[in-house]
Amino acid sequence: MAVDGPGDCSSLDALREHVGDCQRCALAATRNRLVFGVGDPHARLMFIGEAPGKNEDLTGEPFVGAAGKFLDELLDSIGLHRSQVYIANMVKCRPPGNRDPEPIELQTCAPFLARQIELIAPDVIATLGRFAAHYVLQVTEPITTLRGKLYHRDGRNIVPVFHPAAALYDSSKRGVLLDDFHRIRVVLDRAERGE
Ligand code: URA
Repeated sequence: MAVDGPGDCSSLDALREHVGDCQRCALAATRNRLVFGVGDPHARLMFIGEAPGKNEDLTGEPFVGAAGKFLDELLDSIGLHRSQVYIANMVKCRPPGNRDPEPIELQTCAPFLARQIELIAPDVIATLGRFAAHYVLQVTEPITTLRGKLYHRDGRNIVPVFHPAAALYDSSKRGVLLDDFHRIRVVLDRAERGE
């Protein structure tokens, strides 16, 4: 049977192949490597960031720069390693100069992320920053209003948190992120107990 869209892909590998050498939006012209996502394909916890930065564009792996180091620390603080979770982004290619992704770029990439979520089927999605929170929750409130609360969408627990890069510029957000990661751990443990 011909594969018509991301919804027809029955595994992450098939989806990666379907994405291919993507030329579906303008970011293709300036990217080095497409950053599909990494981690456990059956992870109970999935993180969704914003977009690859310089280091991610060069390596093809999400969150490997300074924000990624802090994400690793945050994971460590709740007894997890990145190999035990899945990490993806709203857009799979680096916006030039790290500008915000344009609405058309977010829209073009969203069906691929949506299929990744369906295939991984995590119990908990932690959104990193406002772009992912707005997409997953389909709301427009600022991240400062959204964080600190638990939401439910499509039978999944959604925990919006600040983007780890925010703590690199504003150290007061470090503690907030550490607290919010502990909240993620609690939600994950509850989901694992089937509560
Ligand atoms: N910031 C993101 O949102 N994603 C990455 O992969 C790296 C930095």
